Amino acid sequence: MGKSSKDKRDAYYRLAKEQGWRARSAFKLLQLDEEFNLFEGVTRVVDLCAAPGSWSQVLSRVLIKGEKFGRCAWQDREAKFRRHMLNIVPPADGAPEQDEPASPPKDTPASEGPRPQREVKIVSIDLQPISPLPGIITLRADITHPATVPLLLKALDPDYDPSTMNQQASQPVDLVISDGAPDVTGLHDLDIYVQSQLLFAALNLALCVLKPGGKFVAKIFRGRNVDLLYAQLKIFFEKVYVAKPRSSRASSVEAFIVCVNFQPPEGFKASLEEPLGVGSRLPKMLAARNAAAPITAPVLMQNHSSGAWDFSPEPAATADEHGIYDVAVEDLSSGPRDGDVRWIAPFVACGDLSAFDSDASYKLPDDHVSLDPVQPPTAPPYKRALELRRANGGAYGKPPPIK
Ligand SMILES: C[S@@+](CC[C@H](N)C(=O)[O-])C[C@H]1O[C@@H](n2cnc3c(N)ncnc32)[C@H](O)[C@@H]1O
Repeated sequence: MGKSSKDKRDAYYRLAKEQGWRARSAFKLLQLDEEFNLFEGVTRVVDLCAAPGSWSQVLSRVLIKGEKFGRCAWQDREAKFRRHMLNIVPPADGAPEQDEPASPPKDTPASEGPRPQREVKIVSIDLQPISPLPGIITLRADITHPATVPLLLKALDPDYDPSTMNQQASQPVDLVISDGAPDVTGLHDLDIYVQSQLLFAALNLALCVLKPGGKFVAKIFRGRNVDLLYAQLKIFFEKVYVAKPRSSRASSVEAFIVCVNFQPPEGFKASLEEPLGVGSRLPKMLAARNAAAPITAPVLMQNHSSGAWDFSPEPAATADEHGIYDVAVEDLSSGPRDGDVRWIAPFVACGDLSAFDSDASYKLPDDHVSLDPVQPPTAPPYKRALELRRANGGAYGKPPPIK
């Protein structure tokens, strides 16, 4: 596919180049933020699986430079215009706003978004090198490797002493984001499994560095039993959502879990020896969380020997003469039944409805000029293959011309 053709088929690929983002993924984070206000009050962030760095760019531009995007930027412009019309602010952009109060006026909506912050710390990690970004500490490491924990803790706190073997940050962070994805093989089950291992590693790291009340956002592939994952996350966070930004193709199984208000169970201590820190305490923790879970559903299971369908743990539906089950909605207002561990996370589609549809093709203007990507991959896995191809007669593998 040529560059122009890709520009046509993938509006976010084109927009990323036009707006200076290193990857189209930037729009996913911006759309998630628009829905969940991820950056409000945030000063310390860890960006896992960050290369080539478009999410880190978003963090740098929003948190360090105080830039605003999307609805937040629109609301900001509207507020400025309103203040200008009321003669509170002089019209010239960038001119000193003499009459403007030093702190935001009382009627300024919180949704105006974050302002430039000085005490911001952002650490980004990836297997691949990340080209430098202003104000961001970049680490080249494998998030699934135990040695990455002390590396991250040292980056967050230069006084951290790895010899203490302490696996918890002394200065914890407000937000951990992870856009980790393995090299997709096309074998769905394998891809989903490897992705889930990345997510597991990301969550483990997050548990080591998050402060109570913190947030965790991570890419997931929605496969079978993904709701077990939601239930596990509910042990650690007050709210867990599954979000699908408009810039993520509807045809892909990709989605993002957005976990809000980190509240580890009592006595919890993050440790790599006891993954997720729960070990044999899991059933007790689940029981405690289930008692507070607002939405639950019984699980319909098939008995493999008889082939019969049944609700677990007890039957809650009967089949008619055609074998069709009429599922009665249970009244669970008094709380879930014992043994129910399935928790249904709210699914949230995010991104403005008028935003580009990532599955649609758009006609480009006749004078459209296709731009080069902002940041070509620094060390892509296919680098060696490219070198060999070049050595064997050119970028496209053509044999050298016959003389
Ligand atoms: C979709 S890309 C991330 C894009 C990034 N969020 C951005 O906005 O530019 C997925 C990244 O996950 C990284 N990754 C995969 N496995 C990893 C691992 N075990 N440790 C660290 N990074 C990993 C890959 O190197 C790749 O750069």
